[in-house]
Amino acid sequence: MAKINSNYTKLQGSYLFSTIAKKVNEYTQNNPGKKVIRLGIGDVTRPLPGTVIAALHKAVGEMGDEETFRGYAPDLGYEFLRKAICENDYRSRGCDIEPDEIFVSDGAKSDSGNIQEIFALDNRIAVCDPVYPVYVDSNVMAGRTGDYDSDLGAYRDVIYMPCMGENGFVPRIPEEIPDIIYLCYPNNPTGAVISLDELQKWVDFANEKGSVIIYDAAYEAYISTEGIPHSIYECKGAKTCAIELHSFSKNAGFTGLRLGYTVIPKELERQGVSLHSLWARRHGTKYNGAPYIVQRAGEAVYSPEGKREIRELVGYYMKNAAYILNGLKKAGYEVSGGVDAPYIWLKVPDNMSSWDFFDHLLADANVVGTPGSGFGAHGEGYFRLTAFGSYDNTVEAVDRITSM
Ligand SMILES: Cc1ncc(COP(=O)(O)O)c(C=O)c1O
Repeated sequence: MAKINSNYTKLQGSYLFSTIAKKVNEYTQNNPGKKVIRLGIGDVTRPLPGTVIAALHKAVGEMGDEETFRGYAPDLGYEFLRKAICENDYRSRGCDIEPDEIFVSDGAKSDSGNIQEIFALDNRIAVCDPVYPVYVDSNVMAGRTGDYDSDLGAYRDVIYMPCMGENGFVPRIPEEIPDIIYLCYPNNPTGAVISLDELQKWVDFANEKGSVIIYDAAYEAYISTEGIPHSIYECKGAKTCAIELHSFSKNAGFTGLRLGYTVIPKELERQGVSLHSLWARRHGTKYNGAPYIVQRAGEAVYSPEGKREIRELVGYYMKNAAYILNGLKKAGYEVSGGVDAPYIWLKVPDNMSSWDFFDHLLADANVVGTPGSGFGAHGEGYFRLTAFGSYDNTVEAVDRITSM
């Protein structure tokens, strides 16, 4: 008889977004005349930039022509895209990354979930709390954690690193030494960023202890503050301890198109084995590449016109972020994020729980956000709003919240 992977039974149901959807549906059914504004989910709403659309059309045309038709993509991704990534995301920032250290994929979610496969099961992982849930759940599925402790709101055998207002939502280096450290900056859900000096401390720690940092830079394009690192490879020595994940979802609106990449420097070795070679083997065996037309669309993002359009797109969302941040601050809320990230993280007032505040906001302002407790035990008492709505809806939502 086939046996299941019983690690899956340790997983907690993905209640967060389904509970939100259920509550919102219930509310709209009972209050049909009310206009509910959703600032909860992390999906983009603006259409794809014109340069991307033109590149897609051109590539589709090529696929219909015998001379230019393409079949399977190269394992690591097309050279034209890897070169554009290398030049624009790394060399222009002084990071010494080669095109063949870049693995093109269908997005950062799959890569952040799959990367754990190249590590042994007895590695101890460390994650921020609150956290993007994929890092934890993928390790639970693999069997790298213990059971869920519902009193603690945490899995056993995972090092949770609290990220709270007191530490600027950047964790302290834990006392217990982790083997694998997940960091994500700009951060989802807190909207916090990490300084170069602070990130350097993590890199130095990882190099000293032999840990590996998995650095999720999915929101890098939202950084506007001078001096904040866009890549972990801006730190000295990062090539011997860090893997970096990127996405085209939030900078260029590819959430439905699907494109991302992972960087593994050739120098990164553990136990004398190159992690690059392990991931190359995994990629070659289990993945047949992002579609040619999508990789051409990705290349277009790096054209001069593409870059201008991307700046405009990010600027649109960041105008929303500024409106939320300033509006809520003026109204006396304790808020953070929203400057170098599309997420605003607010402290729930009057010692309410995150879910109580969710219900209050839905009923009294008809606005939907995300309860912080859905991202981990240390998210309790916080609430996430996203800047991915339309400007008009964002303004209306903030005005409603502040006049509650
Ligand atoms: C931190 C973080 N990493 C990765 C992703 C997923 O990115 P992609 O759309 O490239 O899979 C998200 C999406 O919300 C995210 O918040």
